[in-house]
Amino acid sequence: MSDEPLVLGIETSCDETGVGIVRGQTLLVDTVASSVEEHARFGGVVPEVASRAHLEAMVPTIERACREAGVRLRDLDAISVTAGPGLAGALLVGVASAKALALALGTPIYGVNHLASHVAVDIVEHGPLPEPTMAMLVSGGHSSLLLVPDVTNDVRSLGSTMDDAAGEAFDKVARVLGLPFPGGPHVDRAAREGNRIAIDFPRGLTTGRDMERHRFDFSFSGLKTAVARWVETRQRAGEAVPVADVAASFQEAVVDVLTRKALLACKEHDVDHLLIGGGVAANSRLRALAEERCAKAGVTLRVPRPGLCTDNGAMVAALGAQMVSKGRDPSDLGLPTDSSMPVTLVQA
Ligand code: KG4
Ligand code: ZN
Repeated sequence: MSDEPLVLGIETSCDETGVGIVRGQTLLVDTVASSVEEHARFGGVVPEVASRAHLEAMVPTIERACREAGVRLRDLDAISVTAGPGLAGALLVGVASAKALALALGTPIYGVNHLASHVAVDIVEHGPLPEPTMAMLVSGGHSSLLLVPDVTNDVRSLGSTMDDAAGEAFDKVARVLGLPFPGGPHVDRAAREGNRIAIDFPRGLTTGRDMERHRFDFSFSGLKTAVARWVETRQRAGEAVPVADVAASFQEAVVDVLTRKALLACKEHDVDHLLIGGGVAANSRLRALAEERCAKAGVTLRVPRPGLCTDNGAMVAALGAQMVSKGRDPSDLGLPTDSSMPVTLVQA
């Protein structure tokens, strides 16, 4: 096999049916069918609805990806699929589809970790990953700080959220402010008109004993509660809620903690490349503050474009292609899904 393996990646850990095709380190196509609108009226992702949507979208999405990339299924060198973590039923649809393809085509299959895929995707955007790279993943399901000596088999967890994920906090605060689901992009937009120092919201796990014990961990549930209380107090007093200022001040509290801890991790582990991935990496203020603080610290910042930060198939294909190129053994065709797959386990 060439060192430019042609790999199709399937991602179904949440509400996006993603199919991407990568040749080596080149992205050929990234096709996503989202069921987000079907969940919006529930204010969160409904697992059963997501599973059914994956089932319906899978074959058309694979066909579309192949057509747009000008690739025939029989030319594929490997199939890569998210084995976890994620919603159990949703993962099953992706893994069963990938197994069927691998069996029919006689290609190897790689069951990979969703989180490592969020890191690997930047290879198709900005080239090979420096080893080690510091990675901060912030999405609706996770907030983790990872030291990554080798994305194909050595991912170390330095810290993670103790309660809500960063994106979850954005979504919950959006609801308090009467903004639609998923709330992140709406809070981001509202915050542009607001004053980020208007309200001094708490920065969880950043001081004293908390910081000693949870150096690289995060906590956003206290912040979320503080925002809800602040808004309630205004509403009870019959005062108008300054949505833009609340959004901006809340967002500042989140991105301040994220960037501060990420850069501290870089300094203490002597790493000069920071990669930020996951849906919240699309946040404009997080990008701006990370750029500013990285520049000051002499750290090179890598953030994939927003479409590659949210869940997609390209990231799974990108990690699969790395696995093939580095000569990693494929997964067994009987590979399981693992809804709580640990971040340190790159391959199932
Ligand atoms: O990575 P992702 O697509 O799915 C998960 O694996 O969770 O991330 C989705 C999360 C949602 O919570 C969404 O509100 C958040 O990412 N998000 C944002 C922005 N765009 C998406 N949060 C803040 N600012 C944004 N611009
Ligand atoms: Zn994700």
